[in-house]
Amino acid sequence: MKINKICCIGAGYVGGPTMAVIALKCPDIKVIVVDNNSQKIDLWNDKSLDNLPIFEPGLKEIISQTRGKNLFFSKNIDSAIDESQMIFMAVNTPTKQSGEGKGFAADLTFVESCASNIARVSKTNKIVVEKSTLPVRTAEKIKNVLNGNNSSVKFEVISNPEFLAEGTAIQDLFKSDRVLIGGDNTNSGKMAVNSLVKIYEKWIPKNKILTTNVWSSELSKLASNAMLAQRISSINSLSALCESTGADINEVSLAIGMDSRIGKKFLNPSAGFGGSCFKKDILNLVYLSKFYGLDEVAEYWHQVIKINDYQKDRFAEIIIQALDNNIKNKKISILGWAFKKDTNDSRESSAIAVSGKLIDFGANIHVYDPQVGSKRIVSDLIEFWKNNGESESNINFKIKNIIVDNSYKDSIKDSYAIAIMTEWEVFKRYDWKKIQNEMQNKPLIFDSRNIINKKMIDKDKGVFYQLGTSQK
Ligand code: NAD
Ligand code: UGA
Repeated sequence: MKINKICCIGAGYVGGPTMAVIALKCPDIKVIVVDNNSQKIDLWNDKSLDNLPIFEPGLKEIISQTRGKNLFFSKNIDSAIDESQMIFMAVNTPTKQSGEGKGFAADLTFVESCASNIARVSKTNKIVVEKSTLPVRTAEKIKNVLNGNNSSVKFEVISNPEFLAEGTAIQDLFKSDRVLIGGDNTNSGKMAVNSLVKIYEKWIPKNKILTTNVWSSELSKLASNAMLAQRISSINSLSALCESTGADINEVSLAIGMDSRIGKKFLNPSAGFGGSCFKKDILNLVYLSKFYGLDEVAEYWHQVIKINDYQKDRFAEIIIQALDNNIKNKKISILGWAFKKDTNDSRESSAIAVSGKLIDFGANIHVYDPQVGSKRIVSDLIEFWKNNGESESNINFKIKNIIVDNSYKDSIKDSYAIAIMTEWEVFKRYDWKKIQNEMQNKPLIFDSRNIINKKMIDKDKGVFYQLGTSQK
C-alpha cells in the first residue's frame, strides 16, 4: 500500500524529531504529530523556533523547512487518526509505580489508551506502528485492544523501535546504523512491513533496513539499551578499582577500546548513566526474565543498575569526604544538570541523585546548566525525594537549599567545591585558574566526566579530582 498520510501519537523526544525527519525526507507524505499535552503542541507550533519543547541540534532547521508544508502539530488526535493510513505510537512507557510488577515492569497505560483511541476512531484499515520501547509480546496486547473494540476494520500491528540518542538525534535519524521493523509472517503483515520499508528507503540504504518477526524486534530494542548500559557500568566499576590501585581509567579505557572486538565507543566513565530509558528498559528486562522464571538472567541485568546507583552514591561520597564530612551550609556548585550534553532533558540525570545526597547532608547547592531551567531542576529534586519516601515538610525544607543560577560565574563564586556533572563543551573552555581564584581558599573541583584538561588547573591550589584517576 502506498502511504501518503501518517500520524504520530506522542510529540516528545522521539515523536517530534522522527516525524520531522520523515516529513523532510518524504515531501509526498503528510505527517501529523498529535499529543494530549496541548501546551506541548502550542510550543511545537510557536512562531519562534527557540521555543520548541525540546532542544536538539539541527531540529529547528528541519522544522522551519517542513512545518506547515507537510508536517503538522495538532491537538485534534481523533481527526489525525481518522485521516491517516499509518499511525505511530511514540508515547512514554515509564516504569510501573503500582500494581503487579511495580518498580520493574513497563507501565503500558499510555500505549493501551492510544490503542483504544485508534480503535474508537478508525473507519478504514490502519497500520499501527509501535515506536515506543515495549516489552516483548506487547503487540499481542495492542491487537487485543484494537480488535476487541473495533471489528469493522483491519488493523496490522508492526514494531519499529527507535534507536536515536538525544543530543545527536538528527544525525542518528539521517544515518541510522540500522532501522528495525518487525511484523507478522502473514501476507498482510508482510505488506504492512513493506509499506514502512518504502518510507525509510527514501534515505536509508536498503542493507541497513532489517526486517524480523515482531518479538525479535521488540526484544532487540531492550537488549540494545541493556548492552549499552552494561558497558558504562563495566567501565564505571573499573573506575573505582583504578582509584584504589593507581591505574588511570582513561588509559584503561583507551587500551581496552583499541581491541577491535570491543570497540572504543561507550567506554567513558561518569557518575552513572542517566536518561529516560536505560534504567527503565533494564528494569523491564529484569521483570521479563523473572516472569519467565529466568532468575539468574534477571540478576545479571539487575547488577547493571546496582553498579549505576553505586557510582552515583560513590561520587557524592567522594565530595563529602573531601570536605571532611562537613558540608553543612557550605556552597557547592553543580555544573551541568542535563543527563548528557546537547539536550535539555534531565530525566534520571546523575546530577539529581548527587545533588540530592549533598543537600541531605546539609550543603547549599548552586546549579548552572546551559539548557535546563530552574523549574525543571526543582521538580527533578522534588520527585527524587518523593521517590525516596521523604515527607512533604522535609521536601519543602530541603528545597530551600537549591539555587539555580543564570550564569556559571554566580554559581562558582565563593563556593567550596564544584562538581562537573554534564560534559558540556563550553565547560572545557572556561578559565579554570580564574575560577579557582573565585572560589573559597582551598577550592575542590570534581570532574565526573574527565573533560577538563589538567593543564588548565593550578595543581598547587586545592584539589582537582577526575573520576577513575588516583589521587595517590
Ligand atoms: P516523551 O515523554 O518525551 O513523549 C511522550 C509524549 O506522549 C508526551 O508528550 C505525552 O504527553 C504523550 N502522550 C502520552 N500518552 C498519550 C496519549 N494517550 N495520547 C496522546 N499523547 C500522549 O517520551 P519520549 O522520550 O519521546 O519516549 C517515547 C518512547 O520512545 C518511550 O517508550 C521511550 O522508551 C522510547 N525511546 C525514547 C528515546 C529517547 O531518546 N527519549 C529513544 C528511543 C526510544
Ligand atoms: C540511549 C541509546 O544510546 C539510544 O540508542 C536509545 O535509542 C535511547 O537510549 C533510548 O532508548 O532512549 P540516550 O539515553 O539518549 O540514548 O543517550 P546516550 O548517549 O546513550 O547516553 C545515556 C547516558 O549514558 C548518558 O547519561 C551519558 O552521559 C552516559 N554515558 C554514555 C556514559 O556515562 N558513558 C559513555 O561512554 C556513554
